[in-house]
Amino acid sequence: MTTLPENIPFTISTSDPAGSILASDRIVIGQLGQTLDGCIATPTGDSKYINSDCGLRHLHQIRSAVEAVIIGVGSVNADNPKLNVRLCDGLNPARVIIDPRGRVDLTASLFKDGLSDVIIMTSCQVDHPATGMAEIIHLPAQDYHIEPSVIIAALHDRGFYKILVEGGNQTLSNFMDAGVLDRLHLIVAPVIMGGGLSGLNLSPIDKLDEALRPEVTLYPLGRDILFDCNLAKA
Ligand SMILES: NC(=O)c1ccc[n+]([C@@H]2O[C@H](COP(=O)([O-])OP(=O)(O)OC[C@H]3O[C@@H](n4cnc5c(N)ncnc54)[C@H](OP(=O)(O)O)[C@@H]3O)[C@@H](O)[C@H]2O)c1
Repeated sequence: MTTLPENIPFTISTSDPAGSILASDRIVIGQLGQTLDGCIATPTGDSKYINSDCGLRHLHQIRSAVEAVIIGVGSVNADNPKLNVRLCDGLNPARVIIDPRGRVDLTASLFKDGLSDVIIMTSCQVDHPATGMAEIIHLPAQDYHIEPSVIIAALHDRGFYKILVEGGNQTLSNFMDAGVLDRLHLIVAPVIMGGGLSGLNLSPIDKLDEALRPEVTLYPLGRDILFDCNLAKA
């Protein structure tokens, strides 16, 4: 296990577990804060907070190292997240909501806080209700599913090359199934929920030898453990 300095610096450096993002020209990184039994929220959708302060600060360090953070409409409506950088120094990333049907809660605080740009990726056929409140990008979709590679390409077109996919389950699973993630940061907390929303729900496999076995580096984050998974080596 790699040992971190006792006090993680408030400003991210390349020696931090999130620091490799700083050194990349382009990267797509997924994150999940999960329990020992693999849950990211209770059955009612409560997820604040599974991780310790140290684990949460790591999440904020990743946010500070990327240019855009992607989140599914389910998480916006469940959590009303700010998705900004509060627990370390750094700039706030642009916030990108995937909302193919136009069902986002228009009272969500990120539409009003002015902390950074808000972009909505929606499907071509939708006349999105947040027009005028966020930049709306219409993308081709099949049965309201937008290929993750198309979402990434649309962000590259706008100059966003360092991208965090922050969840939830369906969004991250889509991106993993599509093979567009370079890394996955799983922050595992010593918490047992005993049932709830699982972290990942990938296409099922028949044989264990089809399972992903990424190269993993472990970092202690207070009481949590970070599994830094290199999916390029899975
Ligand atoms: N512990 C953690 O680290 C963490 C992080 C984030 C969220 N959460 C929790 O996760 C829960 C929400 O997760 P969730 O799986 O229900 O929702 P979600 O992943 O936040 O949002 C899923 C929805 O986003 C849209 N979407 C995502 N990818 C898409 C794509 N490629 N193409 C088209 N649409 C796409 C779809 O909207 P439509 O349904 O409208 O088609 C989909 O149903 C909440 O309880 C939240 O608290 C936990």
